[in-house]
Amino acid sequence: MNARAIRQGSYVAVAGEGAARVMHRCALLARITERQGQILRMFLSPAMEAVHRAMRPWMETAGMTVTVDRVGNLRGLYPAERGDAPRLLIGSHLDTVPNAGAYDGVLGVLMGVALAEGLAGQRLPFAIEVVGFSDEEGTRFGVPFLGSRAVVGELGGELLDCADERGGTVRQALAAFSAAHPEVVGAKLAPGSAAYLEFHIEQGPVLESENRALGIVEGLAGQSRGEAVFRGKAGHAGTTPMNIRRDALAAAAEWMTRVEAIAGQIAGTIATVGKIEAEPGAVNVIPGVARCNVDVRHAEDTMRDAAVSAIFEEAQAIARRRGIAVEARQYHEHPAVQLNTAIVEMAAQAVKRAGYATMRMTSGAGHDAMIMAPHLPAAMIFLRNPGGISHHPDESVAEQDVAAGLHAGLCFLDEFAPYLNEHGGRVSV
Ligand code: GLV
Ligand code: MN
Ligand code: MN
Repeated sequence: MNARAIRQGSYVAVAGEGAARVMHRCALLARITERQGQILRMFLSPAMEAVHRAMRPWMETAGMTVTVDRVGNLRGLYPAERGDAPRLLIGSHLDTVPNAGAYDGVLGVLMGVALAEGLAGQRLPFAIEVVGFSDEEGTRFGVPFLGSRAVVGELGGELLDCADERGGTVRQALAAFSAAHPEVVGAKLAPGSAAYLEFHIEQGPVLESENRALGIVEGLAGQSRGEAVFRGKAGHAGTTPMNIRRDALAAAAEWMTRVEAIAGQIAGTIATVGKIEAEPGAVNVIPGVARCNVDVRHAEDTMRDAAVSAIFEEAQAIARRRGIAVEARQYHEHPAVQLNTAIVEMAAQAVKRAGYATMRMTSGAGHDAMIMAPHLPAAMIFLRNPGGISHHPDESVAEQDVAAGLHAGLCFLDEFAPYLNEHGGRVSV
């Protein structure tokens, strides 16, 4: 056997053992939640801190120096041969949506830890920083990516004034977190940060239907989040004739069907009204206020803008027709992102060298890679998601596909040093 064949053989064994550990750890972390009976971990929550406590010994045993930064990102540094060497970031997020599955985000962080473990103390010409971002979903404050935005210096301005359901702001939450944890470190990218790699379940059915374990992400769809608040008139459900009602929830329901129709009319649009609240919220009271949140995605920003405008215009038209008021606004937007072609190609070669056929994909889901990509060359490797379901307790991934991902990750590490040499230590975005 030649040297490469011997190395590949040992990679299979290391990846297999690593995958078993990753699956076990995902199951352990799935028990850490802030809501009984389901998985929920929000930004800067006690559950998130418990995840940090669980992960710290795994990371330290792998040879990492572990810190938590001031926005609650967990960061583990696996040192290089030399102190001033460049570093490769491997990350994803540790927060979840309500009633989440066990793999969205956390899998990618644990795969980073497993890759460091797989090195068994061997130092590389570059350091590896494993990052568990504290917020990608935006579950607590409605705006996503707070963890990665802080790392690239984009957490400021109005974002800090966003409020959670209790009325506390991001700014207040950060101040309380730093006060309770004086040991936190700065959140910025370290000098020498050279590239970002993220493993993530696909969160959709494509890889399964194409019979592929792994996919290479080339780009990510842009996204908008908005709110429409319909204000009608509450009243008695038994005495108010139908023709004089100002039912805010009925208006919202009409609007929701129009959101679905608009998404159907503008090809490639994905639009969801995923949250709705009615006030006062009693069976025998006509709803006076209905608050809805809408999420719109498209691979092309101009098409997404067109869909968002049509959706908000429709809210105004429905409110006018029904004689009620509406306030509709977009409160979050992120453009579509193309990942760095050179590093994406390297990820594709790594998957190929590990012995897996793969395919290129665009992600409809948002990922921390979107935030990192304008600042660092970024690559993403998707793992097949049996059943294609995510943001749901049935979310799953097969251990053998995690092993495939780790094997590809080891091949990526092999290629990263020559790649840095070729690009003078840093790859440009
Ligand atoms: C995150 O999972 C998102 O795409 O909203
Ligand atoms: Mn998610
Ligand atoms: Mn995710």
